[in-house]
Amino acid sequence: MPETPDLAFRRRHLLAIEGLHPFEIADLLDCAEGYVAHNRKSDKKLSTLRGLTQINLFYENSTRTRTSFELAGKRLGADVVNMSVSGSSIKKGETLIDTAMTLNAMHPDALVVRHGESGAVALLAHHVRCAVINAGDGSHEHPTQALLDALTIRRRRGRIEGLTVAICGDVLHSRVARSNLLLLQAMGASVRLVGPPTLLPPAIETFQVPTFTDMREGLEGCDIVMMLRLQTERMQGSFVPSVREYFRLYGLTPDKLKAAKPDALIMHPGPMNRGVEIDGVVADDIDRSAILDQVEMGVAVRMACLDALTRHLRDGD
Ligand code: NCD
Repeated sequence: MPETPDLAFRRRHLLAIEGLHPFEIADLLDCAEGYVAHNRKSDKKLSTLRGLTQINLFYENSTRTRTSFELAGKRLGADVVNMSVSGSSIKKGETLIDTAMTLNAMHPDALVVRHGESGAVALLAHHVRCAVINAGDGSHEHPTQALLDALTIRRRRGRIEGLTVAICGDVLHSRVARSNLLLLQAMGASVRLVGPPTLLPPAIETFQVPTFTDMREGLEGCDIVMMLRLQTERMQGSFVPSVREYFRLYGLTPDKLKAAKPDALIMHPGPMNRGVEIDGVVADDIDRSAILDQVEMGVAVRMACLDALTRHLRDGD
């Protein structure tokens, strides 16, 4: 692994894409590039974070995000501890702040937190001394997902600027949609939101992006089609008439995809529900689906974020 150049990204925490400068985003993506190449080698162990402790605190279920943060920390040489809510005192009624202060007393260097409430990760960050990374807070933000999506797009298309990206499906409940919208716009892409009226945010005008309730119209001429899962766990009541009806109108099928550019890239943050928001044929199209690239980029991006946020600890080394 070559020495990573000096980074312009010098923040204490990574809580959101909102407020990041395009050069900070580009910096993290450039740093992640080096880790993509490194992760393809057989010897993946580095000592960048040797001696540092990373705690992954997940209040919500996760497969890819938790595993990739764990791999990222381990590959960088950190001691990584995974805490899940089911096996901790959180189940016994401990508050978020008490948990934060308890973990803080153990002197971790990085805390990776996923929580069901928007704003909870930022609140926790006020009560600890170490770097905090938001691994998804409610329907608010999921910054590392947007970064890994951007890296995927940049590698597959060579750029982000000037591309047209359609973010489709349950935009209302999606932190992935929000972080991606902010990042892609900051990097000069044109973003559109596509979904049923019930799943588009109420004050949609404030986003100042074109919105479509017809899938084919929304996909017309797009370079990137980013699908979202129906976030039923965040829904109170029913937002779609039926799953079958939803798939008929908004599921990404080979036929609807014809509206996008012939080489349009298909993305999905996972976990995907085949036959709900995406047809298996489209998801498995090896030429056009970037879904597994996204997973690969996830580890590299999380390594870059951990590296960047702990760099000040190593400056005096
Ligand atoms: C997303 C999340 O948790 O917000 N998944 C992920 O991190 N890979 C999207 C989702 O759960 O649908």
